[in-house]
Amino acid sequence: MHQAAVAERRNNIAPIPFEADAPFLKIVGELPRELNGTLYRNGPNPQFDSPGAHWFVGDGMLHAFHLKNGRASYRNRWIRTPKWLAEHDAGRALFGGFGRKLPDASVNLTDGGVANTNIIFHAGKLLALEEAHLPTEIEPGSLATRGYHNYHGRVAGSFTAHPKIDPVTGELVFFGYNAAGPLTPALSYGSIDASGKTTRFERFEAPYASMVHDFIVTANHVLFPILPITGSMERAMSGRPPYAWEPDKGAYVGVMTRSGTAKDIVWFRGEACYVFHVMNAWEDGDRIVADVMQFEEAPLFPHPDGRPTDPEKSRARHCRWTFDLSGNTDRFQQTYLDDLTGEFPRIDDRHAGLKSRHGWYACANPKLPMFGALSGLVHVDGNGRRLGHYLLPAGDTISEPVFVERSKDAAEGDGWLLAVVWRARENRSDLAVFNATDIEAGPAALVQLGHRVPDGFHGNWVGAV
Ligand SMILES: [Fe+2]
Repeated sequence: MHQAAVAERRNNIAPIPFEADAPFLKIVGELPRELNGTLYRNGPNPQFDSPGAHWFVGDGMLHAFHLKNGRASYRNRWIRTPKWLAEHDAGRALFGGFGRKLPDASVNLTDGGVANTNIIFHAGKLLALEEAHLPTEIEPGSLATRGYHNYHGRVAGSFTAHPKIDPVTGELVFFGYNAAGPLTPALSYGSIDASGKTTRFERFEAPYASMVHDFIVTANHVLFPILPITGSMERAMSGRPPYAWEPDKGAYVGVMTRSGTAKDIVWFRGEACYVFHVMNAWEDGDRIVADVMQFEEAPLFPHPDGRPTDPEKSRARHCRWTFDLSGNTDRFQQTYLDDLTGEFPRIDDRHAGLKSRHGWYACANPKLPMFGALSGLVHVDGNGRRLGHYLLPAGDTISEPVFVERSKDAAEGDGWLLAVVWRARENRSDLAVFNATDIEAGPAALVQLGHRVPDGFHGNWVGAV
């Protein structure tokens, strides 16, 4: 490829305009035969160009890598949300901005849900998630869209893209923000048991309206971070940013026992920061320890007057939050564990909410310009110390790494790490399979696609039964 063409294509954000089935993919190296199942990934892939639409609100596209007996196949499909179907019929974009209908859109449709953030499997259902809407059920083989899933009418409103599945009970714990309508301080909280039955659903008020992307769950507690990317209807109505960075509001984290109620929430205070993603959290005597990827200033969102935040400060680093539950203080501690820029932290999910000794995240190459360029992987121990570090060739980018255990009873961390890699020079993607405890050796196998998978958000592995 010509160098000029490479130079022009500096990122892998643009959508791909097709759906495909690729049954016999070329494999470099040897795909472990124990890997039997499907890696599902989700991310924005707008069906139509829309002026001013934030990358966050592009239509969700699923990418499924099916692995079996050392062979691999691939399928991708858009998620047919009501918005996708209406725009498909109209042959054009009907929504822009942050999911707001365009002024000249003629359809009688208010639901701008895009289902583009995560894809999880719980209680026999594959669910595409996006935090402003209910889960969308997907048929696991064909990737056909079955529509919104509201748990027999027991769950309503927004539903986080980052629910947690308790590895002991199989319970799914979730929350929603903007639970009383757009840009309101109300949160919802609920749980679904391992059989898919709703066991709890309630609402409460947070200290202020904010964007709450993820939360924290341990064996006995649930924690709600209210961090100052604030939401304001007043700003939105006057044409200013609906979400903005307001550090003066401070950081709050509400701690609730899982058996308690919202009126028992204890609010802890901390230094202003933003966190999109939590790696893991656990209880340690009277303390709760939570490892997160903390930004000193919010990325991607401006100050209330529209000025951008400081790029030097709007990068995430592995950080430990500690909460003292003995009643001595209402402050929580925030301690960076590494200086490396990283995002998309994952663990061996069999340790979710429990003490874990292995974690992984995607990282930037410190020698390259940073933003949008997650181009390596880090393996850390239970205190954030690096056990391994792998960097891709300059220019390539990597997705969130997903851990797959070698077998049901394998030791924590014994298995593989699956990540989709964009090869900048060839402008196509590989599914890279690493030995999870030896990422430094590089991929043990590459499943090669002829096309690229745009940089997306989250994915999960669903093992064959
Ligand atoms: Fe996320």
